[in-house]
Amino acid sequence: MVLSIGNNKVRTAVLISGTGSNLKSLIKFSKTKKSPISIDFIISNNPKAKGLDYARKFGIKKKVTNFKNKNFSEQKLLSIFKSNNIQMICLAGFMKILSKNFIKRFKGRILNIHPSLLPKYKGLNTHQRALNNKEKYSGCTVHFVNSKLDSGKIILQKRVKIKNKETKSSLAKKILAQEHKLYPKAILKIFNL
Ligand code: GRF
Repeated sequence: MVLSIGNNKVRTAVLISGTGSNLKSLIKFSKTKKSPISIDFIISNNPKAKGLDYARKFGIKKKVTNFKNKNFSEQKLLSIFKSNNIQMICLAGFMKILSKNFIKRFKGRILNIHPSLLPKYKGLNTHQRALNNKEKYSGCTVHFVNSKLDSGKIILQKRVKIKNKETKSSLAKKILAQEHKLYPKAILKIFNL
């Protein structure tokens, strides 16, 4: 699905659980003239997520809700998103799985970034699994979110070469650097920009 924009940027919420380096790259992108989105809300299920600091730093609203009761947290988010006119959602290192119902409410408007060349290595521990299987390449994928884990329509992928002496952490670092470029590119692509 291709989203369209009027004169205003599409109001977007970013959901995180940890460091938030992808969040930071999205905020920087959102401030450029060519960006079709603005980042207007940061959500975390983890009160200790480092990425929450970007809310203060960039003057963006934030909300922590722990998802221990998924239905309660999702209802809270839906109401916040409604009152803040949030039109699109970017998952960026968000470690909780959204319910079918929630996804339906934002159908075609939730994106995720995953550190593998999907459909390979859905789920967790992607880098170690790629190394264990002696893959020559790994990479990252931006895709639409549907009700199956890491399975929605792929928007863009970036491949990176796995070197002989590659370790889980060197590979993670290399792929993360590519993620920071890929997410903005994927957003431009879905807006046909
Ligand atoms: C990224 O590798 C992302 O693809 C994965 O979790 C990591 C989050 O990193 N889902 P950060 O919080 O954006 O720094």
